[in-house]
Amino acid sequence: MLERYGHGGDLLTAAETFGLSAKTFLDYSSNMNPFGPPAAVKTIFEERWADIAAYPDPAVRELRQQIADRYGVPAESVLAGNGAAELIDLVVRVLQPKVTALARPCFVEYEEAVHKIGGSAIDIRLREEEDFELSEAALSEAIEGADLLFLGHPNNPTGRLIPQSVLAKAAASGKRIVLDEAFIDFSPEEEERSMIRQAAVSETLFVIRSMTKFFAIPGIRLGFIVAHPDWIAKLRALQVAWSVNTIAQLIGTEVLADRDYARQTLEWLLAERPRLASRLEALGIKTYPSDTNYMLLRLPHPEKLDVKQLQRKLGGRGVLIRDASLFKGLDRAYLRIAIKLRGDNERLVSELERELNGLQ
Ligand SMILES: Cc1ncc(COP(=O)(O)O)c(C=O)c1O
Repeated sequence: MLERYGHGGDLLTAAETFGLSAKTFLDYSSNMNPFGPPAAVKTIFEERWADIAAYPDPAVRELRQQIADRYGVPAESVLAGNGAAELIDLVVRVLQPKVTALARPCFVEYEEAVHKIGGSAIDIRLREEEDFELSEAALSEAIEGADLLFLGHPNNPTGRLIPQSVLAKAAASGKRIVLDEAFIDFSPEEEERSMIRQAAVSETLFVIRSMTKFFAIPGIRLGFIVAHPDWIAKLRALQVAWSVNTIAQLIGTEVLADRDYARQTLEWLLAERPRLASRLEALGIKTYPSDTNYMLLRLPHPEKLDVKQLQRKLGGRGVLIRDASLFKGLDRAYLRIAIKLRGDNERLVSELERELNGLQ
């Protein structure tokens, strides 16, 4: 199974499974910015490599200040981490929720973090008929029985932002809420929809951000959490010392300032997402609306070709897709794909066409 370790983007497992070199895959199974890391990243590796002879700044001062300036929050409300993944685990360890409400389908690490501390999870069901958008009705049901809401904003694998009215209702409930905004930078509405500024002053709201997706640096591991300074102190007390390495700190500080890269990314995505969606729809594949750089898709004839069969066929030809049936709440009809640059997307479409042709 390609998702042997729980996630997409595992090129080594793909290489072992399909007998191809890891470098040759066209990877639609993890959702990175297709422009690759910003230019500054290479320069930092070349010019600052000798800095690793000293310990990293244990307080991550420069990067936290840059984050604070960029998002208009106090630096005391920011804690950097070794990827959003570390902060998902850390925030749950600090909050110790007994019952956590999760909007299914969702990123598997939320539930894993909850189980690791002996907590349990209850489901908020995202409905296909509602294009997997979180509704007020579904949320209200769950709020009663939970002491923490852990929500993707936008959610993975569905790609939807949480409607503002639903978020307002969740906030008004007084329950603790963790919002995973790992992919929100891909939304042109980031500024208005992100809850980062509210989290900086709230006693109950926590916002986690990843820097690995938007800046295509998953190998370096970098993310941050924004919360009330009292909570940040508690989070920091449970964090492993020097969790963010020197090179990651330098890279984070540089790339956040690269506004041209951000502009180019948003321009590409706004043009390419609807175009790819209509190409896929023309093949009979159902696409769901997405606010970010990936899409959830539904196969037209899963009884004849399901996602596992499709993943095997495409993988053998060097194209990786995410088996979304592995997310609780979805079945064998579902896959998730990243959105990439035009030429790659055309290759994906033609590979899918080849498999779907003649199934009717
Ligand atoms: C929704 C979501 N949140 C967080 C993460 C973790 O991101 P990071 O690479 O910053 O640890 C991922 C990674 O796939 C993700 O999909």
